[in-house]
Amino acid sequence: MADDLRDWLKKVEEREELRRLDGADWNLEIGCTTTLNWKKRGPALLFDKIKGYPPGFRVLTCSLLTPSRIALAFGLSPDSSDKQILEELRPMVPQWEARLDKFPPKTVKTGPILENVLSGKDVDLFRFPVPLWHEKDGGRYIGTGDAFITMDPENGAVNLGAYRVMICDSRTVTFHIQPTHDGHVHIAKYHAKGKPCPVAISVGQHPLIFGVAGRRVAEGMEYRYVGAMRGEPVEVIEEEVTGLPIPADSEIVIVGWCPPGKTRTEGPFAEGTGYYGGAEERSIMEVERIYYRNNPILMGSLTDRGHTDHSLFGKLLGSLVLENRLKRCGVRQVKGVFEHEITQNYFATVAIKQQYVGHAKQAGLQLASLLDGGRFVIVVDEDVDITSLEEVIWAVCTRANPLKDIDIISGLPASDIDPIFRKGETERTGSKVVITACRPYSWMNEFPEVIKFNPELIKGMKEKWAGILEL
Ligand SMILES: Cc1cc2nc3c(=O)[nH]c(=O)nc-3n(C[C@H](O)[C@H](O)[C@H](O)COP(=O)(O)O)c2cc1C
Repeated sequence: MADDLRDWLKKVEEREELRRLDGADWNLEIGCTTTLNWKKRGPALLFDKIKGYPPGFRVLTCSLLTPSRIALAFGLSPDSSDKQILEELRPMVPQWEARLDKFPPKTVKTGPILENVLSGKDVDLFRFPVPLWHEKDGGRYIGTGDAFITMDPENGAVNLGAYRVMICDSRTVTFHIQPTHDGHVHIAKYHAKGKPCPVAISVGQHPLIFGVAGRRVAEGMEYRYVGAMRGEPVEVIEEEVTGLPIPADSEIVIVGWCPPGKTRTEGPFAEGTGYYGGAEERSIMEVERIYYRNNPILMGSLTDRGHTDHSLFGKLLGSLVLENRLKRCGVRQVKGVFEHEITQNYFATVAIKQQYVGHAKQAGLQLASLLDGGRFVIVVDEDVDITSLEEVIWAVCTRANPLKDIDIISGLPASDIDPIFRKGETERTGSKVVITACRPYSWMNEFPEVIKFNPELIKGMKEKWAGILEL
């Protein structure tokens, strides 16, 4: 398993899955190149010698785009397919969750992140080649592939979330955190007492730290979760100004305070829904210090619809975590949960082996209650490959009877980047659809038989026509 981002990059480069690109402009060129590259599921991109910046101040994108790069982050065989990764990680998720108390972060005195420190009048966020990612972004976003670190003032729990962070000026950033996310809750607790909230934002780090920060995996336990995954605690340094634990081998960390009552305009920004989100007044962070390694790497992770920088990782780990949660809720015979990449957690499928009348609907409703922003939940029988959107839609078309198999639930919390709400709408409650696309339990044995050939015959035909036909 990779020790830090650089060690992982080395392994990625050994597999010829890294391209070094010199001479890009931070102004749109990095964003556009990244988007064209992830559409082709291309290599990881390390931009250097960025226009107007000294060599060595680098930007990394497309990091977790392919199964092999994700496998390398987990220490699995880089030849694994996404399905193989899913199968390998499935038994590990409950084991990691059971071991969280054994892996608190380990505080160390020093680490590479302390190689350079900017404080006082030297604080300048524009020292880093932060891209203007998209044409209509409201500013240069330093936090896209980040881990935003806060502490709950009541119980000391440290949370890591991937939230977008925009530069307002050389010493101020603003950010967007959904109200249901822990970072928002922590900040609100400080502000309720009229106090500024301490914040540290790592904007380049071990891929697993970013991966876990970007998914609802273990709220307030992210350091422990990464420790359990790696089998060794994450090394952190107690940061001098804020007291927050920052990863000792991060690339760049900015620290400071989020004061109550001060806001700046944040956005627009190209969001994971595939649309630009609107600009709004949001809290700020006044930056007190910037720490960075020699030749720092800013990690970028663009969001959009479909397959993007982080979506495959999110889909694999996110699906397994949801599956584990669903099982823990007492739903029996769950064979898999899968969040499809098209607008990610807006569309999820669960496969079950039906045990009793109503079982399928119970699984769907329970999953709908666990999903963050998700809108469409589909329940299928175990014979359907839930990783294939085509198969799922086939099951919906042939096993769901709309009159009795579609349930709509309303009045649920909604994501505040949900495009279906009009700007300024105050009463934003979401609704969900649960489609039960299973054979009817009471006569499932009489349901028409699925067309298929026996595996022996298939094998025989593949052998028979080998070299002439690729079957
Ligand atoms: C690339 C990426 C960007 C994200 N941007 C945001 C964001 O701007 N605001 C937000 O609230 N959540 C964002 N998320 C989702 C959160 O990071 C994620 O839901 C996380 O689980 C929140 O955890 P928390 O409740 O511990 O804060 C993003 C996730 C990824 C992977």
